[in-house]
Amino acid sequence: MLFICTPSLTTSTHAQRIREGLGQRLVGEFNDVLPHVPREAVDAARALAAEKNADAAVAMGGGSAIGVGKGVALGGVALVAIPTTYAGSEMTPVVGITDRAAGRKRVQRDPAALPRLAIYDPEVTLNLPAPVTAATGMNALAHCVEACYSRDVNPVTPPVALEGIRRITRSLPLCVAAGDDLEARENLLTGAYLAAFSIANATMALHHGVCHVLGGRTGVAHGVLNAIMLPHVMRFNADAVPDAMGAIAGAMDAGARTRDADAAARATFALLDSLPVPKRLRDTGIRAEVLEPVAREAAASPTVQANPKPVSESDLLELLRAAW
Ligand SMILES: [Fe+2]
Repeated sequence: MLFICTPSLTTSTHAQRIREGLGQRLVGEFNDVLPHVPREAVDAARALAAEKNADAAVAMGGGSAIGVGKGVALGGVALVAIPTTYAGSEMTPVVGITDRAAGRKRVQRDPAALPRLAIYDPEVTLNLPAPVTAATGMNALAHCVEACYSRDVNPVTPPVALEGIRRITRSLPLCVAAGDDLEARENLLTGAYLAAFSIANATMALHHGVCHVLGGRTGVAHGVLNAIMLPHVMRFNADAVPDAMGAIAGAMDAGARTRDADAAARATFALLDSLPVPKRLRDTGIRAEVLEPVAREAAASPTVQANPKPVSESDLLELLRAAW
């Protein structure tokens, strides 16, 4: 077994318990986990797995640690994922690997990347800092939102996604206010699981499409980009999917009223306002000059094109400028 552990948790009691539990089966440990899963990290972890003859790996951490694990799983290694954030990577066969030289994040779906087992333990999330809790919680919310109006929407996913929205919007502020509130942490982790289930069973659209391009080009954390972009994308999509937006607003307790498709976006702006995350792209150090190339690249993205409302390059630029 190879143990892939995010650097911030290597000295934690949770990591220690895993090492002790694995005992002699533990053949190597990999800690060189970086945001957006650089190609070099995946190559190094795969080389270590091959060198040590590992036939299984345990990945503990956020989306990036589990992303490295998925990269290793693509080489035929069985993966166990222990998520410590709300990013939801453990439930999907989606692998995003970044080519840093080209500034591109390549996102692929491959069943071989899906973890064989995901272990949800709210206790491992108790020390997650409030800004990471907030950003990755907003990423989970975005998974639910996109699953509610996905192009290939089915009867099962939206009810699951709406339950995720209920749990996330209620528990996220509690977890930010008091990180050691175990009941709120359990609710938020359950919501993140429902969110991950939802996005695993839906086609991602404009929101994730544009966030992946922004992340690949700028290196800003996926959760932070999600938090900033989500209400803008919801506002853009509102008139195309009013029923879904009404249901989302209802789940957020934002007073769903007919002909008020913007209620869900407003509630999401309000939630963002209350959280310890950057509110605008410029607050993350992203320069205005980046917006045009991002709009151009995003316009050609199949994920963006899967949006329920057609999106042009000028729509994208307008959206990005509003969020900047
Ligand atoms: Fe995401």
